[in-house]
Amino acid sequence: MLEVIILAAGHGSRMQSSTAKVLHLLAGQPLVSHVLGTAREVGARRIHMVVGHDADAVQAVVSAPDVECHLQQQQLGTGHAVQQAIHNCDSESTVLVLFGDVPLIHRDSLDEVIRAASSGMAMLSSYVPDPTGYGRVLRDAEGAFQGVVEEQDATADQRRLSEINTGVLAAPAAAFCQYLERLTNDNAQGEYYLPEVLKLAREDGATVTVVQSDRALDCLGVNTPQQLEQLERLHQGALADQLMSQGVLIADRSRVDIRGALHCGRDVCIDVNTVFEGTVTLAGGVSIGANCIISNSNIGEGAQVHPFTHIEGAEIKAGASIGPYARIRPGTVIDEVAKVGNFVEIKNTHLGRAAKASHLAYLGDADVGSKSNVGAGTITCNYDGANKYRTVLGESVFVGSNSTLVAPVTIDAGGFVAAGSTITDNVAPDQLAVARGRQRNVDGWRRPKKPEETD
Ligand code: UD1
Ligand code: MG
Repeated sequence: MLEVIILAAGHGSRMQSSTAKVLHLLAGQPLVSHVLGTAREVGARRIHMVVGHDADAVQAVVSAPDVECHLQQQQLGTGHAVQQAIHNCDSESTVLVLFGDVPLIHRDSLDEVIRAASSGMAMLSSYVPDPTGYGRVLRDAEGAFQGVVEEQDATADQRRLSEINTGVLAAPAAAFCQYLERLTNDNAQGEYYLPEVLKLAREDGATVTVVQSDRALDCLGVNTPQQLEQLERLHQGALADQLMSQGVLIADRSRVDIRGALHCGRDVCIDVNTVFEGTVTLAGGVSIGANCIISNSNIGEGAQVHPFTHIEGAEIKAGASIGPYARIRPGTVIDEVAKVGNFVEIKNTHLGRAAKASHLAYLGDADVGSKSNVGAGTITCNYDGANKYRTVLGESVFVGSNSTLVAPVTIDAGGFVAAGSTITDNVAPDQLAVARGRQRNVDGWRRPKKPEETD
């Protein structure tokens, strides 16, 4: 049986933040959640989370039936952290240790380490262009593994080594326990270092296998805001690459952010400075203009989203056109070939097929029939300060500019609202509703004058 221990108790002092390090976001998800997802992918039967710093907040994020949290009261090092959980593992299990601050560890690398652990202890190393801050892997003249030395304990020569400890380690539980008990904190940081167990095992003549990873993102840990930013950009670049290899046209890989799952059909174009959050589906032929943010929404075949548009929790059907500068809020359905223009906010509303709201409007809690036209400056008054009410427009309704529709109110099919009306009563099919002060033109009217002015 495979059990995974994830270390997530550290303070993360180098982040200089009051948020626990493992809760900082990468691609919109806490670092530790990425690791948790990977632990499940490799088939962990039980997951042990070592929490300490900001334990309640971390626990709230990772809480699940397959996760057990263990409190590390004082953060005395990675070896000490594993000691808090190991006794809860079955002695027959293989135990895999993952670090909550190494978020993009790949399942294939872990599979190799788990396989290697069937004959003893196994760790994952990697070569990185800048090994600063990592533990370096020490080897003898023949290349045999000697141990791991931490940056603070390393000599100048050792610091030049570029093979680093990724932190991933796997071992049979019983052997692991035995070496953990023998750890000391006799080092530069006065901490119980986890990689020391490998050295103890080697000194005992036990097999220690070092699996080398050649996946660029596998091993990158997050200790500082700079490392978080670098990892985010590398990860986003990889996600953009994946989409481009499926044919998606992305204007600039460094100016698109995918914070969740983005599914694209054929011939999708994505312009610069676009952010996708949660689960977003762009059907074939969709184009997303520059500076758009789209969250948890489906955009139908051939729909066009013009620049500076924000769409959240909405369903945009085929051929619709949205924006520029539109805000589409949760619960909205924009039907086929409908049009939403600039400075229009729509919430919890169904805009029917080929209906239009081309400029400067607020539609909240409304049903707009197909082919209806909502003029500039139209506002649904959906809220009386306590309750919300619906506005219903039938098919082919015309609402003149600057009208106020006081809900609950219904304008039946073919109804026509004169510009500047405040509609409080229902309008029957094909009626014209005029609800505004009548214009008077006053002859011989004299303008007011300032006191010093004379005729
Ligand atoms: C550690 C490794 C280093 C490796 C690097 C890879 C040790 C001693 N060093 O260094 O060899 O190259 O990771 O990224 O293992 N944690 C606890 N309790 C503690 C201390 C840490 O849970 O008492 C957790 C942290 O929350 C973090 C992880 O363990 O998720 C690693 O700790 P961190 O302080 O970041 O170690 P590094 O200095 O990165
Ligand atoms: Mg670290």
